[in-house]
Amino acid sequence: MPSPATATGPIGVFDSGIGGLSVLAALRRELPLEKFVYIGDAGHAPYGERDTGHVLKRSQLLADYLCTHHQAKALVLACNTATAAAVSSLRARYPKLPIVGIEPALKPAAAQSASGVVAVMATRSTLSSDKFQILLSAQPPSVRFILQACDGLAAAIEQADLQAIESLSQRYIQTLRHHPDGGTHIDTVVLGCTHYALISDTLGNLWGPKVSLIEAGKPVARRTRQVLQAADLLQATAHAPPSRETQCLSTGDPALLDQALRDWQVGRPNLRASALFLP
Ligand code: DGL
Repeated sequence: MPSPATATGPIGVFDSGIGGLSVLAALRRELPLEKFVYIGDAGHAPYGERDTGHVLKRSQLLADYLCTHHQAKALVLACNTATAAAVSSLRARYPKLPIVGIEPALKPAAAQSASGVVAVMATRSTLSSDKFQILLSAQPPSVRFILQACDGLAAAIEQADLQAIESLSQRYIQTLRHHPDGGTHIDTVVLGCTHYALISDTLGNLWGPKVSLIEAGKPVARRTRQVLQAADLLQATAHAPPSRETQCLSTGDPALLDQALRDWQVGRPNLRASALFLP
């Protein structure tokens, strides 16, 4: 069993790869005194096109590693797919540990859409999960959600394959725009995969200036602060200098995570990823 969490421990954050860096960046801004250990499970990505059992098993393994080897005081699942597949089981496994997940921001999108037609771009696994279906059924009936599983897009972002990113984005956006249920009226797009937040400039250019894109990095960071505060686990010394301590690990090629850290300017310029060997 891991030792009880203390305020000095790091916050464990994980995703299938680099996508969760969009959440890590928001966490570091919101919680500058905290330490973070980030794992990109790139050796087992993409999660979004694999079966739920695989994602659940990987999520448990990463959570166990973060708790046992790093004494993580909280976990942030910086992955919509892993949240849908594993957050309930992780909460049951670690009943005392604050665990924050991420899910597609349907509610804010519904509140903000003037046309009442919202697109959701996410992985196939997220969109077909029970968790997502329950979230969808809780939205106001006056708003129409058009769902698009973006197969291959997270993998293209992971590999920094700019050509594939552009052509897949174009293809999915065209499909959404031509959707018979009012695709031409879409004015709000939910980015329901943390990888997509990393290419919000590309997606924003393709959608055009009249369409707003919504992602959930900031709200997840704010929620993490709330749950840490409630558990009395905030690194709260008002006079302490920002910790800036972040460790980044990859179960795949750490060079890709390194490149992403530089591209997305997460952390200090000299922050480097290391390889993590997990079975
Ligand atoms: N970044 C993950 C998410 O938010 C999924 C990417 C993948 O398919 O591995 O859903």
